[in-house]
Amino acid sequence: MTATVAVGEGSEWAVETRGLTKRFGSNVAVSGVDLRIPRGCAFGYLGPNGAGKTTLIRVLLGLTQADAGSMWLLGQPVPQHRDLALARVGAIVDEPRFHAHLTGRQNLQVLAAAREPAARGRIEAALERVGILHRADDRVSKYSMGMRQRLGVAACLIGDPQLLILDEPMNGLDPAGMHEMRDMIRALVGEGRTVVLSSHLLDEVERTCDAVAIVDRGNVIRQGPISELLAGAAVTLQVDCSEPRRAGALLAETNLPVTVAIEENGLAVTLAGGEPRDVIAEIARILISGNISVWRLQLVQTSLESWFLQITSRLGED
Ligand SMILES: Nc1ncnc2c1ncn2[C@@H]1O[C@H](COP(=O)(O)OP(=O)(O)O)[C@@H](O)[C@H]1O
Ligand SMILES: [Mg+2]
Repeated sequence: MTATVAVGEGSEWAVETRGLTKRFGSNVAVSGVDLRIPRGCAFGYLGPNGAGKTTLIRVLLGLTQADAGSMWLLGQPVPQHRDLALARVGAIVDEPRFHAHLTGRQNLQVLAAAREPAARGRIEAALERVGILHRADDRVSKYSMGMRQRLGVAACLIGDPQLLILDEPMNGLDPAGMHEMRDMIRALVGEGRTVVLSSHLLDEVERTCDAVAIVDRGNVIRQGPISELLAGAAVTLQVDCSEPRRAGALLAETNLPVTVAIEENGLAVTLAGGEPRDVIAEIARILISGNISVWRLQLVQTSLESWFLQITSRLGED
């Protein structure tokens, strides 16, 4: 009896790795990486240059062999079922490469010829989807970096992928190009696809992705939904008030779970625990009953960047 499992079924993870390791001599580029990338989200693999992002992607795609560990793409073990898994995976590693003397459409025709028959029928929609249909008959040599990146995504889409893996898709793009790429990634996720992207740009990952793994020197330091990671971060309350020194002293006399920094026009209060609403209400009571004039109380949203700098200072150096 044979059991047939359609690609994409049988696992809640789009990508799963256990103990994945890749060495170049004594250099451990990917070090015991355990990833669990949920389906239907944009997932950022975030780390500085040299952290091992491209190497991880190359290992996932079977472009280079792992030294240790196991991995699954869309529920399929790879490399064992590599062809089955990769049939529903689209990837751009490093920069997308095309024949510069052919047009965008011709490039997709060449790629479609190597895929299943249905791929050819997806070319027009893919060109339109990434917004370059009006330039489809221009040679790729005339394309900007942003248009090449988009053609790269179109090349992925002709395979109707459930999973897209994009290595540094924002590289070489100007702010407008980054904005378009971000919108496109969100739209692909909106269609139920999973997009995994690597990046060294904290800000872009924060804006584009739902979940993230932070990688440094081959090691994944943290991973999870961005909202959950940030929920564990310290929260800062900006207080604009009179007599900052006396206000700070009043708060220091209490046993509230806060750290207070005195500023020119008030206080920056870091909340180290407790329910923020209760702590803020108590701060307001203490200051006002101490005859301090309070002009503004504002909770400052922790960004991924400031959170990241709390757990390691290394990214900030790059
Ligand atoms: N083919 C290779 N041969 C030897 N070392 C490599 C090779 N590819 C990558 N490395 C090394 O592995 C580490 C990770 O590189 P890479 O995966 O390209 O990082 P990232 O993509 O995060 O910038 C770096 O120290 C790099 O020098
Ligand atoms: Mg890289």
